[in-house]
Order: sequence, then structure tokens, then C-alpha cells
Amino acid sequence: MASWIYGTRPLKGGRVVFSFAAFALLGVGIAAAQLPPRPVIDPARELTAIKTASVLDDNPADSMAVQQVCTVCHSSSQFLGTPRSSSRWEDLFGQMARQGAHPTDTQVEQIVRYFQRNLTVVNVNTSPMEELGPTLQTGDETTTAIVMRRGQKKFTGIADLAAIPGVDRSVLELLKDRLQF
Ligand code: HEC
Repeated sequence: MASWIYGTRPLKGGRVVFSFAAFALLGVGIAAAQLPPRPVIDPARELTAIKTASVLDDNPADSMAVQQVCTVCHSSSQFLGTPRSSSRWEDLFGQMARQGAHPTDTQVEQIVRYFQRNLTVVNVNTSPMEELGPTLQTGDETTTAIVMRRGQKKFTGIADLAAIPGVDRSVLELLKDRLQF
């Protein structure tokens, strides 16, 4: 009697486990057949890519924050090389927060600085002062001078802008593709 009970129970259990395993394998097989392969995110490679793309923000902590927060769900190739205006980045950060991105306050500061310096497009003749300064890397006094001057006469190009005292021409050269006039 006892051997019947103990002899069959494991067998029954084993069958249940076996058929469940087969079902799960079948499920995995179907899922694998239908879904595109999950991207493999390599943190070290992401950090290198983010640092390499950072020509105007040499603070390694900023790159680190971008890697830690923005490459959890997808690769940095989602955003490196696709500059946008400041307001479009702001919208995107809101969208990513809704997807589940939860940076600390410090990380927000670092990420915003990284994006302002490396990935933001500004229009020298129309962007608001608070967007121009961080991207052009000019202090308040110089940014104010730019805004006063454009009120009188629009800037025509980099040479024109570089004539304003306090504007760093080498920064402008690196920003070239992200400056609109
Ligand atoms: C919790 C997961 C998650 C995190 C963290 C995350 N993203 Fe995303 N991201 C997504 C998902 C999901 C999509 C695709 C759906 C969509 O577009 O909303 C996406 C899409 C994108 C896109 C393409 C969509 C577009 O409008 O061009 C960009 C760019 C992007 N993410 C940038 C970022 C940046 C920058 C950060 C860091 C601040 C970040 N992501 C952090 C989940 C995440």
C-alpha cells in the first residue's frame, strides 16, 4: 500500500512537472519565434559610446548618469546622434519617466547638462535665453549681450556670433551642426 502511494506519487508529480516544462518550452519557442531578439545592452560599451559622443561635456559623472539612467531599457543609440530642441528633449524625458525612468535629482541635473551640451539644437536668433546659455556655454552677461544684439540685428552666422565678447569660438565650432540662425 505504502509503496503504491509512494511509488506513484513521484511519478504523477513527475508527469505534471514534465508536461508543464514541455508547455513552458513550447511557449518560449512560440515567443522566440514571434518577438524580435531582445537587444543585449553592454553597460561598458554604452558608457564608452556616451563618453565618445560627449565633445562638449567633459564631466565623466554626467556621462555616467546618462548611462545609468538611459540605457536600462534600450541602447544609447536611441538618442546619440539625434539632436533635438530643448523643449523636445523635455517632452522626451517626460515620456521616458512614464515608461519607468526614475533618475535621482542629481542624475536629472547631470543628464540635462549632458543633453544641453551635446545633443541640443538652439536657434541663436530665437531660442530663449535659458536655452541659449547652457548650450553655448556662455554666462548670464554674455547671453544677455547676445539677446540684446539679436533684438537689433539678427545674427548671420558663427563669425558674427563669435564677435560678442565672452563667446568661445571653439565651442561654436563644435556646436556647428546644432546652431541655427
Ligand atoms: C524604463 C525603461 C526606459 C528608460 C529608463 C528609458 N527609456 Fe527611452 N524608451 C523606452 C521605451 C519603452 C521606448 C519606446 C516607446 C516610446 O517611444 O515611448 C523608448 C524610446 C526612446 C526614444 C525613441 C523615441 C523618440 O521619441 O524618439 C528615445 C530617444 C529615448 N527612449 C531616449 C531615452 C533617454 C534619453 C532616456 C534617459 C533619460 C531613456 N530613454 C530612458 C524605455 C525607456
